[in-house]
Amino acid sequence: MEKKNLDWGSLGFAYTRTDLRYVSNYKNGAWDEGCLTDQADITMSECACVLQYAQTCFEGLKAYTTEDGRIVCFRPDLNAQRMADSCRRLRMPVFPEDRFVDAVIQTVRANAQWVPPYGSGATLYIRPFMFGSDAIIGVKPATEYQFRVFATPVGPYFKGGFKALRVRISDLDRAAPRGTGHVKAGLNYAMSLYNIMDAHDQGYDENVYVDSATRTHIEETGGANIIFLKGNKLVTPNSPTILPSITRRSLVQVAQEYLGMEVEERPVALEEIGEFDECGLCGTAAVISPVGIIDDHGKEIRYAGMGEGIRKLYDTLTGIQMGRIPAPEGWIQVIA
Ligand code: PLP
Ligand code: COI
Repeated sequence: MEKKNLDWGSLGFAYTRTDLRYVSNYKNGAWDEGCLTDQADITMSECACVLQYAQTCFEGLKAYTTEDGRIVCFRPDLNAQRMADSCRRLRMPVFPEDRFVDAVIQTVRANAQWVPPYGSGATLYIRPFMFGSDAIIGVKPATEYQFRVFATPVGPYFKGGFKALRVRISDLDRAAPRGTGHVKAGLNYAMSLYNIMDAHDQGYDENVYVDSATRTHIEETGGANIIFLKGNKLVTPNSPTILPSITRRSLVQVAQEYLGMEVEERPVALEEIGEFDECGLCGTAAVISPVGIIDDHGKEIRYAGMGEGIRKLYDTLTGIQMGRIPAPEGWIQVIA
């Protein structure tokens, strides 16, 4: 199969329209059978619930070309589960989890020419999403929905690849206690846009959010969970208001089972972050991006950047994803 003629190595994290996407519509209490379409544009009522009340959620995962030339994706069943959780929280109908995985497979297969070659540094980013599509003016859930999956080839999320990031402790909050921080609702990202632009204007790559109730503990960043390393120990915040990152959950297992590291998933106090040697942001888009500096209101906490620990975690996780290292049972979904 011939690949598209792209300069894979210079792709950033941006949208490229690919050939086909998956669409299924929900009406009268049921999902239709779904299909692939070349229609990338969407027409809907001016009063659609998604446009008025942001009733939308999404997922993000990637497809990879492995060393031996297969196309695979990483733990799509966990994205299906998390999207089901998001839907329940937003009062949207769940797209059945097995159909979610099938829609991802169909979308990747249909765009196989867009899956970046092994070793190119790029991957195919897959974006499943759902929105309330019928006209709703009183505040209540839609009755009609659309579920879609598109795919787009991407490079690194942060400019500069492995360059250590400079991030700041944010003065604005991301998630309220008992709010929606633990689900992947579009509204969580809409409300972070002011802050990410402000961070960039001030020379920071990302915002590190603290818990909004006490402002004493580290939560996560706008688009990734956070990990800290000290010696042979990985420490990562557990909080009911962060997004349960599939990358972070996988890294915890990789650290324990592949690298013999000690792991602590626990509240991480702002006060203790100066005690760690390394820090990284982890997520599908971020993979593991090393942090060099956390700026806490003028106090700069410095880390090793791509240090030995982050490097080992990165090499092992991406080795599993790209077929160089045997994966735990069920982690790799072979697509082609
Ligand atoms: N946290 C936030 C707020 C995110 O948007 C993401 C991206 O999906 C993550 C964490 C990382 O999650 P995952 O590893 O499942 O991609
Ligand atoms: C992902 O990592 O898949 C995300 O959704 C993060 C987003 C900020 C691009």
